[in-house]
Amino acid sequence: MPAIDPALIPNALRPIIDALCATSIDLSRVIARGPLAGKLGAGVGENSDGDQQKALDVMADEMFEAALRGTGVRYYASEEQEDVVTLDDDGGYALATDPLDGSSNIDVNVTIGTIFSIFEAADNGEASFLRKSSDQIAAGYIAYGPQTLLAMTFGDGTQLYVLDPERCEFVLVEARMTLPEAAKEFSINASNRRHWTPPILAYVEECERGRDGAKGKDMNFRWVGSLVAETHRILTRGGTFLYPADARPNYENGRLRMVYEVGPMAFLVEQAGGKATDGMDPILSLTAEALHERRPFVFGSAEEVERIAALHG
Ligand code: F6P
Repeated sequence: MPAIDPALIPNALRPIIDALCATSIDLSRVIARGPLAGKLGAGVGENSDGDQQKALDVMADEMFEAALRGTGVRYYASEEQEDVVTLDDDGGYALATDPLDGSSNIDVNVTIGTIFSIFEAADNGEASFLRKSSDQIAAGYIAYGPQTLLAMTFGDGTQLYVLDPERCEFVLVEARMTLPEAAKEFSINASNRRHWTPPILAYVEECERGRDGAKGKDMNFRWVGSLVAETHRILTRGGTFLYPADARPNYENGRLRMVYEVGPMAFLVEQAGGKATDGMDPILSLTAEALHERRPFVFGSAEEVERIAALHG
């Protein structure tokens, strides 16, 4: 079983975190075997929002749902399921997850991940998740890459663990991650440029002009296509991430989901000293209105996120 310092985790959440760790260790073994474990990236259907589901998306969802039974999770919400599932009528918590984030990268051996967010359970399933993002009591991600990493927060800093595959344990490597205040890198899917709003275009052009423009320094561009990988890079060495609203049909609120992508990442980033907004307003001040709703998402180094808000006027 994973060895995580009990002093860093609220006791009541310990069974949930243990189940998440044990499941992610199993999942990391499947991911590491890639094609030897089957056709993990094969399309098997569509999720509630019309995104294609891959075999590994569904497998990960089934594994986490099964593992979380009996851990204190009353309500389980997943990107892969339309409705909230009641796991345990006596549980005190509600857990939302993107069980396998970045699934377009499954077949190309690029980092993918799991994202989770925990609230106290409310009177019914949906109501437990449709609340102010600052009501989260825990959030985290597991990144399946060259290393399997776990970053999580309980509202007192962002902790980072690395899986030691020989001991089969997550080992604490940083009790408080610090996201650098200034950035040298920015991330946005540049193929959508013609659809962006003027403030987003202005920010990207500022980055591109580098030391010849208002920034006075050169900026590097990165886009992995896995939110978990991008978040981990930015938490580690700073930078900005943007998935804004754009003019494509169905992208009026961007692409990323508030409850199990944007909210938890915002909590982790802010707990590491970074900022997370929808372009203007802090994500943690916003309330989800639907389980699978999307939100424009901007996060990273404080100076840059503030600059983007200023460009929005
Ligand atoms: O929802 C998921 C996701 O795959 C994120 O992990 C990633 O940041 C984004 O979508 C990639 O979007 P695009 O396909 O526009 O590059």
